[in-house]
Order: sequence, then structure tokens, then C-alpha cells
Amino acid sequence: MRRISDLKPVKWRDGKVAWIDQTKLPWKEQWNESNSISELAKAIKRLEIRGAPAIGVAAAFGIAVSASNAKSDLKAAMGSVSRDAKVLGKTRPTAVNLFWAIERMLKKAEDLAADCVSLREFQDSLASEALSIQKEDIDSNMRMGRLGSKLIKDGDVILTHCNAGALATGGYGTSYGVIRTAWMEGKDIKVIATQTAPLYQGARLTVWELMRDRIPVTLITDSMAAYAMKNAGVTKVILGADRILMNGDVANKIGTYGLAVLAKRHNIPFLVAAPVSTIDKEGSSIEIEQRNPDEVRKVLGKLMITSPEVPVMNPAFDVTPSELVSGIITERGIARAPYRPSLNKIAYG
Ligand code: MRU
Repeated sequence: MRRISDLKPVKWRDGKVAWIDQTKLPWKEQWNESNSISELAKAIKRLEIRGAPAIGVAAAFGIAVSASNAKSDLKAAMGSVSRDAKVLGKTRPTAVNLFWAIERMLKKAEDLAADCVSLREFQDSLASEALSIQKEDIDSNMRMGRLGSKLIKDGDVILTHCNAGALATGGYGTSYGVIRTAWMEGKDIKVIATQTAPLYQGARLTVWELMRDRIPVTLITDSMAAYAMKNAGVTKVILGADRILMNGDVANKIGTYGLAVLAKRHNIPFLVAAPVSTIDKEGSSIEIEQRNPDEVRKVLGKLMITSPEVPVMNPAFDVTPSELVSGIITERGIARAPYRPSLNKIAYG
């Protein structure tokens, strides 16, 4: 059996959150640690911690940190948990896992407060709830990996976008989980990774993960995707999601929609892998995060590559309509069109 690396990008360290700073990868493996909610919120906004499920796990640990920081009594702890939940909820608007995790932690905190538990029990129970969120995410990723791998055949050339690996999750990966499971099972596959401008999560992070696992990868610029589909034998597109509506529309890293259109044109299956926590059971529209224009004007905050005054568009995500999605791999099964009944069964099943 081939071996793969083990990585949890966010960790609970006795009242503090530790995270690998993803803005420093692949050059440096730097771990940061804090028990300050404003520092954690800043790390999420700056994409030191990024990827929908990883943001959810980090926010859950943040709520546990907030409880641990309380020194006086249960009432004060509940007050700081509610305040800090608001701060964490304002970090990034698109990935629904953030709101899902905060809601779950708040519900746990309210139940504990209603039971008038001791401050110590409140703190310990919130820490173990956050750890469960992380463990469940990893377990879901592994189940998705096994289910999704059944769709992968020897000889597949898989195009992926952004980073949906261990770094983007509790650990293991969603779409990358499918790829690495297929690889571990001995399948002969190759991956084509897009750079993913403007922040290069594909070039910096996905390539780093693939190379650690020794999975064959070729890097392309985002604009080479059509060429790769036409000339480089791409057989599947598999990527992650930040939010999935019940009608099957998928929000993911900017450029995903274009890849879906291209996949349709070339008759290539376009597959999304995401845990049930990424499904937005109530929403009917998706807020797209608009990021700092300088991310487009400069290369990774350094080299200015255009006129500093030029107006810029910088949406971090786009929405792929469900009609372009061939299947959504979740830990509870693979949803197919028509998506509403299929996702209903998965989300409430
Ligand atoms: O802006 P990012 O890097 O947080 O965007 C991440 C993505 O778009 C991922 O593809 C998505 O969160 C799926 S991660 C399992």
C-alpha cells in the first residue's frame, strides 16, 4: 500500500489554537499559536488558515479558546463566547462551514449554560466539542475519499483547482482526499493542478501536498485549462466547495465556474467533493467575498505588476450552476441531478 503524509493544519493546544501559516507555504513550515480571538480572526482573514472546513474547525477552536480565557464565572464565559462568535463570524462570508461550526459551538455552550455546569466543565466540554468537529471532518473526508475513489480509474488524469487538501480541512482533504485515496489504493493516476491566481493556492499548497505524497502532478496556469482538457488527456475535474445550495449550485474558488463550462464542452465529468457541513440547507443565494484589489495588482503582496491605480475586480469565489455539475461526493453518498431531492436525502438522511 502506498503511504501518504499526515497533517492537521489547525490544532488545539491546551487553551490555545495552533495553525500552520499557509501564507508562508511552500517556503517555510511555520506554526503560529494564540489564545487571542482577534489574532485568530486576523489569521483567517489573511488566509493563514483557509479552506472551508479548516476555517470551521479554527472557529470552533476559537470559541473553545474564548471559554478558556474566561476567569470569573459561567455567565461571564457565556458572554465572551457570544461576543467572540460574532467576531469570528465576520472573518469570511462565503464558506458556510464557518457559520455551521459557530452555530454548533454556540448551541453546545447554551445547553451547558442552561444546565448550570461549572466553569471548568463548560470550558472542557467546549474544547472537546471543537475536537469532535475536527475529528468528524477528518472521518468524513476519509469516507468521501473511499466513495469518490470508486469513480477513479487507472489512467485517469485529474484536473483540480485551488487547494482542497489536508490544509483546507480538519486534515486529509475533500477532493484531494478522493485523489489520495485512489492513489493509496494503487491506482495509476496523474494530477494537473492549476496555479489558482491571484493567491496561488494550487501552485503553493496543492502541489506541496501532492509532492509530499509523491503523487504525479503537473502545474499549469489557470488560462491553460482549456488547452489541458483538449490536449493533455484530462479525464476528470475534481474540486472542493465552500458552499453548496440545495439546488446543487456550488460556490468554490474563483475560476471554478469557467472550469465547469470547459469540462462540459470537452465532455469531461465535473465532480465536487465536500462534507455535509458545506451544504447550506436554508440559503438560496451565496455572498461572494470581495478581497483587497492589491491581491490582483501585486504578486503575493510584493511585486506590483500593473498600474497601481488600475481598477480591479477580486471576487474570491464564483458559483457554478448545478446543470454543469456531474456529481457531488459527500460522506453520506454521491448526489446526482436532480440535485434537490438527492441533496435532501443526503442532508437530512
Ligand atoms: O480562499 P480559500 O483559499 O479559503 O478558498 C478555498 C477554496 O476555494 C477551496 O476549494 C474550498 O474551500 C474547498 S476546501 C476543502
